[in-house]
Amino acid sequence: MNPKERAEKLRQQITELRHEYHVQNNPAVTDEVYDSLSRELEALERAHPEIADPNSAIHRVAGAPLPFFQKVKHRERMLSLDNAFSEDELRAWEKRIAKIAKVSQFEYFCELKFDGLAISLVYENGKFIRGATRGDGFIGEDITENLKMIGTIPLVLAKSFPSYIEVRGEAIMKKSVWKKLNAENKKNGLPEFANTRNAAAGSLRQLDSALTKERHLDFFAYEISEIKGAQPKTHSEKHALLRKLGFVVDGLDLVAHSIDEILGFIKRVAEEREKLPFGTDGVVISVNDVGVFEELGVAGKAPRGMIAYKYPAERATTVITDITVSVGRTGVLTPVAHFPPTLVAGSTVSKATLHNMDQINRLDVRIGDTVVIEKAGDVIPAVIEVLPKMRTGKEKKFKMPAKCPICGGAVEQKDIFYYCVDPNCEAKNLRSLGHFVNAFEIYEIGPKVLERLSDEGLITDAADLFTLEVSDLSGLERFGEKSAENIISSIASHRTIPLWRFLYSLGILHVGEETARDLAAHFGMLPKLMKASQEQIESVPNIGPIVSKSVYDYFRTKLHIEYVQKLLSVGIKIEKAKKTEGIFSGKTFVITGTLPSLSRDEAKEKIISAGGKVSGSVSKNTSYVLVGENPGSKFDDATRLGVKTLSEAEFLKLVK
Ligand code: IVH
Repeated sequence: MNPKERAEKLRQQITELRHEYHVQNNPAVTDEVYDSLSRELEALERAHPEIADPNSAIHRVAGAPLPFFQKVKHRERMLSLDNAFSEDELRAWEKRIAKIAKVSQFEYFCELKFDGLAISLVYENGKFIRGATRGDGFIGEDITENLKMIGTIPLVLAKSFPSYIEVRGEAIMKKSVWKKLNAENKKNGLPEFANTRNAAAGSLRQLDSALTKERHLDFFAYEISEIKGAQPKTHSEKHALLRKLGFVVDGLDLVAHSIDEILGFIKRVAEEREKLPFGTDGVVISVNDVGVFEELGVAGKAPRGMIAYKYPAERATTVITDITVSVGRTGVLTPVAHFPPTLVAGSTVSKATLHNMDQINRLDVRIGDTVVIEKAGDVIPAVIEVLPKMRTGKEKKFKMPAKCPICGGAVEQKDIFYYCVDPNCEAKNLRSLGHFVNAFEIYEIGPKVLERLSDEGLITDAADLFTLEVSDLSGLERFGEKSAENIISSIASHRTIPLWRFLYSLGILHVGEETARDLAAHFGMLPKLMKASQEQIESVPNIGPIVSKSVYDYFRTKLHIEYVQKLLSVGIKIEKAKKTEGIFSGKTFVITGTLPSLSRDEAKEKIISAGGKVSGSVSKNTSYVLVGENPGSKFDDATRLGVKTLSEAEFLKLVK
């Protein structure tokens, strides 16, 4: 789409989302989605200044108070927080404040960043007299009546309260309450809330407090902005006092003395936050000493002594460039959306599952659509929503192919799923994938992993292994970042392989390791073998008519040729086969029994690298039988046919 047209669409969409957010109080998408669209528009306007529009919604500041509530002027401005998205940004923050403060060592207080609505509560002589939203920070909306409906907001403070106190905290909706509310709304044909925060905001910023009561909100206190009498000296003391007065203050916190300790806390929360009963989008870090905190002052609309570490956004918008189909182990066809590399949940992804045809129809996803993708916690990236307003009319509907894209076999529909019904379809044959990874010596990938990758639609054939990214794997349940990295680096390190291993990996009927080695040694290059006639193949020593026909036929089948091309296109490099010459050139070995020190594979490798061959059975053409302990019938065959036998010791003398 041309940039001007795209920018225009983005502006319309953003304006509409802002209206839903600020006026209707019921945004259809999460902030991450809004941010993602705004970022795209900003980037477009930067790249094409001629299409920039000064009236663009992105140049306006949010947060005007709603018209139907009484206005409240906050005695202390309600600030917001600067964000840090990485370790580097946290360290940069520490450096900044160390320059300004008189001290260079800080004690920090770390706590959860609740995903709700900032609230101020004023208590006089122990009684709750007024509660307000943040508004623009200076003037908020008086929502006292609604706040009284929240059970965890004390109406009367516990004994030894100060004569005046203003408490700040977050009104939230628990995940369980939100899910139930959405289920009910869905049943009643009402709009659902995009997240717990929108649900909390929507439940508070409306006129009927009976409705707020039904919504079962909660309140977490985290700050005292003003207090008469004895002044708390640290942020920790404020928390302790709030608890004593009867507020709910969350207990997941830490007093830290270094950025490393803070990072440890951030990691711990990252692991636990999904299981928490309420939504958290980060960690708030404060300079614990109130004196130092105040000395640091305010920059813009945020205090310098506080910062919010934000977890990476789990949703982003992108444009679908193609929809392909992957075939799983059970033959099920999974549609996969492709898009330009997009940053979501801290990693860059370029494809996401569309699950099945039902999902495509439900979302009405088309090629060319602007969509919301999500990569949350343990799930693989998925397309969860289409933004139909972003359409230009050039989008294309997707249809399931009538034939299996892997084997060309028939496709049949059962319920919402489509299956390839050809029993011989390669995609169904996980054993062939197992054979491939063995041939490529990618031992980090066991059968269980292959099963998972296939079930998730991440691979349909071995070539797909080479397009996997760490982010594809680390999204899978019970799949750690470390093991994902190990697997990906192991795949990468086996991209370049000898021709014989490549041939062996193809799983051509009758082509085992030995035949693959023979073919590789004879033809030297893949194209030569692919073009060879059946007679030329049969002229290779040890290859008879059955094997040569099988090899010849393999490279005359369209699907096989396409598969080989796909392997090469994902970056597999074939080493040229070197003809190994050595003391065993022209000699054929058979191994029997257990060798005292060498494993069978080691002995084999030694024979082959000295130019020899290893065969499975003894004939009069066998040069030597290498005999270990408890030899089998091959030893008898050797004696009968008069073939020379070698012990391991004798063999080792020869190879040296
Ligand atoms: S401290 C200086 N502590 O995050 C104002 N804020 O992005 C910050 N928030 O407006 C107050 N959890 O709504 C603080 N534990 C926490 C918080 C928290 C959530 C919200 C608050 C604020 C916003 C800033």
